[in-house]
Amino acid sequence: MSIVTAADVEAAGARLQLRPGQRLTPLARDRAKELGVEIVEAGAAAPAVPTAPSTSPAATPMQPAKDASASARPATSLAASAGGSTRPFAPLVSGAMYRRNGLGPQGANGGGRRPRAGVVGAGHVGAMAALRLAESDLFDHVAIVDVVPGLAAGLALDMWHGAGLYGFSTPLSGSDDLSSLRGCDYIIITAGKPRQPGMTRTDLTAGNAAIMKSVCEGIRQHAPDATLVVVSNPLEEMTHLAAQYTGFAQSRVLGMAGVLDSARFCALVGLTGKARPQDVRALALGSHGPEMVIPLSQAFVGNAPIESVLDASTLSAIVERTRESGGEVVKLLKTGSAYFSPAESAAAMVRIMASGSNEVIAACVRPQGAYGLTDARVGLPVRLDRRGLKEVVQLPLRPGELQALREAAARIAQRIEELAQLPSAPSAPAPAAATA
Ligand code: 2OP
Repeated sequence: MSIVTAADVEAAGARLQLRPGQRLTPLARDRAKELGVEIVEAGAAAPAVPTAPSTSPAATPMQPAKDASASARPATSLAASAGGSTRPFAPLVSGAMYRRNGLGPQGANGGGRRPRAGVVGAGHVGAMAALRLAESDLFDHVAIVDVVPGLAAGLALDMWHGAGLYGFSTPLSGSDDLSSLRGCDYIIITAGKPRQPGMTRTDLTAGNAAIMKSVCEGIRQHAPDATLVVVSNPLEEMTHLAAQYTGFAQSRVLGMAGVLDSARFCALVGLTGKARPQDVRALALGSHGPEMVIPLSQAFVGNAPIESVLDASTLSAIVERTRESGGEVVKLLKTGSAYFSPAESAAAMVRIMASGSNEVIAACVRPQGAYGLTDARVGLPVRLDRRGLKEVVQLPLRPGELQALREAAARIAQRIEELAQLPSAPSAPAPAAATA
């Protein structure tokens, strides 16, 4: 009997024909699954050579793959997009090796399997977020999906070309097929149209709700255990719809806005010259829009309360400018919305979950009764664990801050109720996902 190893699988191309008496190691089987290498048992007839996945516009753009079986069209891999074999890109270091700690640093969960991350939408935000996830080397793989054939695969290849310069070894792949999200532990959803000058985030609702529905059906089919970080706008509504369309436990559907808005507040404090942005701590709660609440009682420069560093009118102006920062960038760009800071904010949330950091951040979640809030979806101080929301953190807000937060939650709840009028509105909430 002879042993077939992961290295043999990596060298095999699209298919590995076993000879009588040959046995695959568990690692080799993992590696074959990861790379989409077909194992043909000894004596079985070699199947017809699979054709390279089509990336023509006729390809199923961003729809759940028709056939969820293993024989479904494999993700449009880097190699295919580069005109190479249909074998997915084989990075220098195998995720499977990480799984057994054969190589590289301990897995994100202290020695176990490194999580797999996915990004839906390869626009500026999605592409930047994918790169930042890969750079962290916390993940076994980063899969990028975009409806435009070749876009995600091309960008993934481009990012990989820079891997040595960036200093990461996390493999990336790109596809126009949601099936390539299979097995993802975390998925950042940026799919949807960005704002144009003169638009409010709410102007995007109907169009982005339809996109969200299609994306979530694919995620539910291919990555039923994933934790979602929603970036698409309008944020609270899209986060709510993602929870409805996937049927995932609420704790696994997070909206990314508070990390971005808190960062913007800190950066604007930095413009006063009184502190570096990274020395400022603040939490932007409420909504990712006019009902944003930045409780100054919870804002600090180093250990000093911010109100002892900046005067009230300066702080009020900074809070107001933070609320309008998204629109301010849209107005300047004229062709879309911000992406460097939103991308880093979404990636930061996934890194926090993958690394098990216990820091308090702001995220759009269900309040679980905290702050006297029940059925809402609002930006709150939270701690995350590897699976998503761990807890809502009760901070000692001032009465006025608490009142503003409750008003924000009520306003968001009204907007979410209006979603029922949408053609793509979810019917009855999807059944809760099997796993919490
Ligand atoms: C922003 O505020 C895109 O919503 C994002 O820039």
